[in-house]
Parts: sequence; structure tokens; C-alpha cells
Amino acid sequence: MNILGIESSCDETAAAVYTDDGLQSNIIASQAVHEQYGGVVPELASRAHHKTIWRTVQQSLDEAELPLDAIDVVAVTQGPGLMGSLLVGLCFAKGLCLSRNVPLVGVNHMDAHIYANFIDDQPKYPFVSLTVSGGHTQLVHVTGPFQHELLGQTRDDAAGEAFDKIGKILGLPYPAGPVIDERSQHGDPDFHDFPQAMLDNDFEFSFSGLKTSVKYFLEDQSDQEQFLENHLDDVCASVSHAITEVLVKKLRNAIEHTGVKTIALAGGVSANSMLRGKATQLAEETGCELHIPKLAYCTDNAAMIAITGYMMAKRRMFSDMNLKPFANLKALKK
Ligand code: KG4
Ligand code: ZN
Repeated sequence: MNILGIESSCDETAAAVYTDDGLQSNIIASQAVHEQYGGVVPELASRAHHKTIWRTVQQSLDEAELPLDAIDVVAVTQGPGLMGSLLVGLCFAKGLCLSRNVPLVGVNHMDAHIYANFIDDQPKYPFVSLTVSGGHTQLVHVTGPFQHELLGQTRDDAAGEAFDKIGKILGLPYPAGPVIDERSQHGDPDFHDFPQAMLDNDFEFSFSGLKTSVKYFLEDQSDQEQFLENHLDDVCASVSHAITEVLVKKLRNAIEHTGVKTIALAGGVSANSMLRGKATQLAEETGCELHIPKLAYCTDNAAMIAITGYMMAKRRMFSDMNLKPFANLKALKK
């Protein structure tokens, strides 16, 4: 079975081909247009998807050395994401399905982040996934394929959103997560004790207070510019420390609560080196097997859509042509 996966939920236009022999191609066209605005501009994102989607799909077929005729199923992100961006991918996928007479699979983007772990690996069920992206922060108990129990999530900002918003306060470019990660490696994580919120709650998160705390901390400095010149790396490391400590503490709670022997990281923030290090240590301490997707499959990509589509198609979880996009994760719940 040959699957074409299409991802267009935010600011990456991506296409990938997954077959019985595994992943054959994984193409991403990132949208540089947003950099100057310090965040994603939804209208510009939809237009950029529209411009690049066909080229990206063609490239993924070329790299897989398969003609469009060889595609058996088209998998596409249904949500959550930006409505306009989702619509471009969904309409394109439906058009392909109708013209080639092949079935459609609508994929939940957050599920796909989790199943990215299956591209190079075979995590054993049941496992707990810490899914951390720019829009979501969740602990999910995965008891079998597409059998998910949401243990807890963020009450406000997502972990990636916290990195990006704090980066903006620090004058860093968007997306700030990778920049803060890089700078943290040269700084002192104990330089300042930023708050770790909701530690008395088992599985829920809150990151918006951290952003405010960084803002006040900077305002307290007599010469902010000079301070950041001397200590930007230290502030970045302390922020990364606060975020990753909370994430890993809650992951530990989830292991204890569920009794799983396998854990996984998923989503853009799972690219974070401090988080990867702490999760590795947690796995050693708890005797759990840890799975982390390789970097290219952490941030948004279509390989994760293609493999999830493959797993769904094998289970005949097809969608009909009335499939509608959902901006909000809740709307996806049945
Ligand atoms: O999963 P993703 O690509 O998109 C969403 O589904 O939201 O996640 C993007 C988020 C951004 O907030 C970005 O700053 C963050 O992942 N991110 C990182 C790193 N790489 C990406 N955050 C911390 N450290 C990183 N190395
Ligand atoms: Zn994502």
C-alpha cells in the first residue's frame, strides 16, 4: 500500500510518501514570510500553502520514485490548526482522491506527532506520550493503536508557545524554541529560579505565568540591554530548565499513575536537547524504554501524517468526501 501524506496545518507545507517498505520521501517547504512579523500570519500562511502545495507533493512523489497513479490512499491533516491552512491541504487532498478514485484518510495532527515515533521504531503498547508542540502540551496514555486517554494538558500556553513568547520578550527571532535551546547550551540553568507552575496537580500544565515572570525579571534590571548582553544565555538556560523540569516531573507522575514501561516524546518541543536529556535520565531511573522521534520528525512534517495514514488505512479508518477541517482539538473528539 502506497500512502501520500499531506500536512498544511500551520506554516509548513509538507508532503511525504510511506509504503509497505517504509518512508520513501519527506519534503517540507517552510514559510519564511512570517519571520518579519514575529509569528505566523494565518492569511499569509494559507496563500503560501496554496502556492507551494502542488510543487511539494510532486517533489515527494519524485523522491519516492512513484507516479501519482501508484498512490493508493491520500492522508491529510484534518486538524487542529489554522482553518485557512487546513482547508488548502484538505481541498487539495480531496481533489486528488476524486481525480484518482482513491480513498481519503483525515489525520489528527496531534495523533500524528505521537505516531512519528513509529517511523524508525516500534514502541510497545501501552505507553505514555508527552506531546509538546507550539499549540499543545499533553500527556496521553496510548493503550493501543488509536486508543488514547488524555491524562492532562495545559490550561493556557503550550510549552512551545512559552518558548516562542519568552523568546520575543528576549528579542529573539520566531520561532524562538530552537534559538533558546542553542543558547541554553552555553548558559547556567541555575542562574535564576523561574517558577514551575502547577506542581501540585498531577498531569496539567500552565506556562503563561512563566512568560510574565521573565518579563518582570527583565524589568527589574537597571540596564536591560546590558544585562541581556551579559546574561542572555543564562536566562535562556534558566527558562529551559523551568519548562523542562515541569514537563519531566509530570511525565514521571504519568508513569507512576499508569504503570507503563514505555514512554515517548512527540511534537516540536521534543527536539529540545535539555528535554531529551532529562527524559533519558527519567527513563533510566524508572526502567522505562524511551522513544523520541529523530529531529526531522519532531517539528511539523508530512512523514508523520503519511505513517499515521498508513496505520489508519490498514485499519480501514477511511474518511468520506464531506470531511471537514477542525481548528480546535476538542472539535475532533467523537
Ligand atoms: O510541532 P510543531 O512543529 O508545531 C505545532 O504543531 O505547533 O512545534 C513547533 C514548536 C514551536 O513553538 C517551536 O519553538 C518549538 O516547537 N521548538 C522547540 C525546539 N524546536 C522547535 N522548542 C524548544 N527547543 C527546540 N529545540
Ligand atoms: Zn505540530
